Amino acid sequence: MPWDPDLYLAFQKERFAPFEDLLPVIRVRPGLSVVDLGCGTGELTLRLADHLPGSEVLGVDTSEPMLERAAALQRPGLRFERRDLRRLDGAWDLVFSHAAIHWVEDHRALIPALLTHVNPGGQLALQFPSNHHHAAHRAVVETAGEEPFKTALEGWNRISPVLPMASYAEILYEEGVTDMRIFEKIYPHIMENADALAMWLSGTTLVPYLDRLDDLYREYFLQAMRRKLRALWPSGPVFYPFRRILLSAVRPEVAP
Ligand SMILES: C[S@@+](CC[C@H](N)C(=O)[O-])C[C@H]1O[C@@H](n2cnc3c(N)ncnc32)[C@H](O)[C@@H]1O
Repeated sequence: MPWDPDLYLAFQKERFAPFEDLLPVIRVRPGLSVVDLGCGTGELTLRLADHLPGSEVLGVDTSEPMLERAAALQRPGLRFERRDLRRLDGAWDLVFSHAAIHWVEDHRALIPALLTHVNPGGQLALQFPSNHHHAAHRAVVETAGEEPFKTALEGWNRISPVLPMASYAEILYEEGVTDMRIFEKIYPHIMENADALAMWLSGTTLVPYLDRLDDLYREYFLQAMRRKLRALWPSGPVFYPFRRILLSAVRPEVAP
């Protein structure tokens, strides 16, 4: 199952909430060149473009269904392209990403690599979930490690590449950035019940698992997840404290 824009946006208010915390740390200057990595359906890329006067903004993503939705938002100064964020090229005044880099391995290499594409005086601004210790997310990894899914997935499982918050500070310090800001925040979501939580997960965390399964196993996997979540939260509402890291850093004008 590839990314499904409708399923993803079923929780739009909750998924977009961290953008409101990241936007105020963006340095507004006229005429910025901006790239939004993993732009998805593009609504936040549009908000970013509208916030930055005279900017040229490119949203990139690897998912065709997400990009098809984003295409409707194109306007002068805002376009979308199919590109992999692991192979970013060019030099940008702002490298931005909202809820996407946790899909990419090896953040110790990724963060310095992204910084090489930030112009001197430019900014890196990222938000990504650090919620992998939550019981619902542990249940996903556990289910994928159990039969019959372990065999159906050929032993594949997804361990989050997200590091402790302090590690990002250390990586950025080593890179000689200025104006480093890093914080972790819990977004308190209230789900109607365990099935609603399963639906939330199927719009994001479960995507690469469901993508690797045929129709039959996909349904079995979703059933197994619902069973497990109902056992954890037998009655609603379910309080779902969602943890995210937000970070921003500026590349010095003169190399340190
Ligand atoms: C959770 S969605 C976030 C979308 C949007 N930024 C938002 O906050 O609403 C994650 C997006 O990252 C994209 N993505 C995952 N891996 C990627 C990669 N290697 N390169 C580019 N996009 C990627 C997915 O296709 C998906 O659209």
